[in-house]
Amino acid sequence: MSIPAYDFTHKTGLITGATGGIGRDVARLLFDAGANLVLLDLDPGSLNALAVELGDDARVAALAGDASSPEIIDGALALTTARFGALDFVVPAAGIYPESPVTETSDELWRKVMDINLDGVFRLLRAATPVMADGGAIVNFASLAGHRGSKNHAHYAASKAGVIALTRSLAHELGHRGIRVNAVSPGTISTPMVEALVAERGESMLSGTPLNRFGNSMEVAQVAAFLCSDGASFINGETIHVNGGLFMAG
Ligand SMILES: NC(=O)c1ccc[n+]([C@@H]2O[C@H](COP(=O)([O-])OP(=O)(O)OC[C@H]3O[C@@H](n4cnc5c(N)ncnc54)[C@H](O)[C@@H]3O)[C@@H](O)[C@H]2O)c1
Repeated sequence: MSIPAYDFTHKTGLITGATGGIGRDVARLLFDAGANLVLLDLDPGSLNALAVELGDDARVAALAGDASSPEIIDGALALTTARFGALDFVVPAAGIYPESPVTETSDELWRKVMDINLDGVFRLLRAATPVMADGGAIVNFASLAGHRGSKNHAHYAASKAGVIALTRSLAHELGHRGIRVNAVSPGTISTPMVEALVAERGESMLSGTPLNRFGNSMEVAQVAAFLCSDGASFINGETIHVNGGLFMAG
């Protein structure tokens, strides 16, 4: 039997991108520690499968839809309050990572990446913070790309740099309510998002990583769960790197 590291009993978490590699491990950790969950992602079948895997209907609610849409966000928050009454943790993990050199990036693609990776997080947090309980926590997902830039992913890198600035700004605004706002900044983590990249450039990427491997989604989710927990009670406005030393090593 595994003993959960944290006790999130009677707490409620809203996770977007909940059936992605990292989102589903955040869901597993929060759920195992006792939290109620509202799961939001695009595909109803995958959401249903995750809800079944978690196995407790009473503590899980799911909504399929675009996490950057104001209507879907309102729907997710209405579902949260109807089912659980309060909202303690918000973890916006939805994101996209299309490959495109700057000179080949259309306005439409640039806007789409910004819309999902940055604007959607802003819209979700703008709507969620008024209904969040004081003392809650927000954990955003930035990326190494947001610090360093990323070849053929300028739109993505710019969106993640925006997430870092949004995180810090919101930490200033919500501190008086005891709501902490932090971000996790993963390096290369083996999830569907980076499958193509790893297949193409995996070997060369590993050479710059002192731990000489890619991370796994649970190694990122654990940091997100920690940032939700009382163990992180004085961590606020930070962006925590999870990259096996790639950032430091350069
Ligand atoms: N995997 C990595 O190496 C890595 C590195 C740095 C940052 N990140 C970030 O971590 C977060 C999670 O990434 P992941 O690796 O789990 O990716 P993933 O592709 O496995 O999961 C992303 C999830 O987001 C969902 N999604 C995409 N657009 C959506 C939308 N408009 N509405 C609702 N859901 C949507 C997808 O359906 C998918 O389930 C992302 O923000 C990503 O940018 C990942």
